[in-house]
Amino acid sequence: MTIVIKVGGSIADGIENIARDLKSLNEPCVLVHGVGPQADELTRKLGKEPRWVISVQGIRSRYTDKETVEIFNRAANDLNNEIVSTFKKEGITAIGLSNAIYAQRKDRIKIIESGRKMILEGDYTGKITGIDKKRFADLIERKFVPVIGPMALTEQNEIVNVNADRAAAFIAKELGAEIVLNFSDVPGVYDSNKKVIRRIPAQQLEQKMKEVSGGMVMKLLAAKEAMEFGVKRFVIASGVVENPIAKALDGEGTVVEQ
Ligand SMILES: Nc1ncnc2c1ncn2[C@@H]1O[C@H](COP(=O)(O)OP(=O)(O)O)[C@@H](O)[C@H]1O
Ligand SMILES: [Mg+2]
Repeated sequence: MTIVIKVGGSIADGIENIARDLKSLNEPCVLVHGVGPQADELTRKLGKEPRWVISVQGIRSRYTDKETVEIFNRAANDLNNEIVSTFKKEGITAIGLSNAIYAQRKDRIKIIESGRKMILEGDYTGKITGIDKKRFADLIERKFVPVIGPMALTEQNEIVNVNADRAAAFIAKELGAEIVLNFSDVPGVYDSNKKVIRRIPAQQLEQKMKEVSGGMVMKLLAAKEAMEFGVKRFVIASGVVENPIAKALDGEGTVVEQ
């Protein structure tokens, strides 16, 4: 049973707890990581201010021009190395992967600015179209844990930024994984009273997407895609507790199921 684990950039800087738990679980696994906060930090360090846009679907995302995607790629590579080294220290044979997610560059995106629809050109975000399944499968077969960030390769050999939550769902589909564990800095999806929702049936995801904000919208979209792809369970849980994997598999956090 392969498990796909996604860790948010918000928590990816110190995931010894996840490594230790994975070690005792001893199951095949792929680790997908985000890099948002690290990329923002590097952007500011380089004297640029991160820019956000709202798509016509109402989803907030980074405006990613050529310079931004290069910064993203740098930050993602650095973080990837850091995670691989943390995992290795904990005794896991992790291996960093790049150019193993394929995407189509969006190039132009439709956004809403000051209440008006606009087309933004020169965008370097991508829609995931595939993965290098053989490379993942071979590594898993050889008991490696592939560690991959949110960068993808286009047919034109350009590097684009993709969303890590959705990448995890896609990878799960391609590898036939039944479970996606999405670890973040919150203990699950909160309801309006800030209580963690224990379970969201797949058919309620679309409604729930309207009730959350920020990065949670993308997570629920990724959960919805995972369900459509045939993934059985998508858990949104805290990645900053002891034994996060065991707890999430045990039903802590928000469990999305068919
Ligand atoms: N209903 C909600 N329940 C939990 N978190 C929410 C909710 N609505 C918005 N959020 C925000 O979503 C964030 C998680 O998404 P994100 O920042 O993208 O994290 P990650 O780095 O793990 O992808 C939380 O830190 C929280 O601020
Ligand atoms: Mg996020």
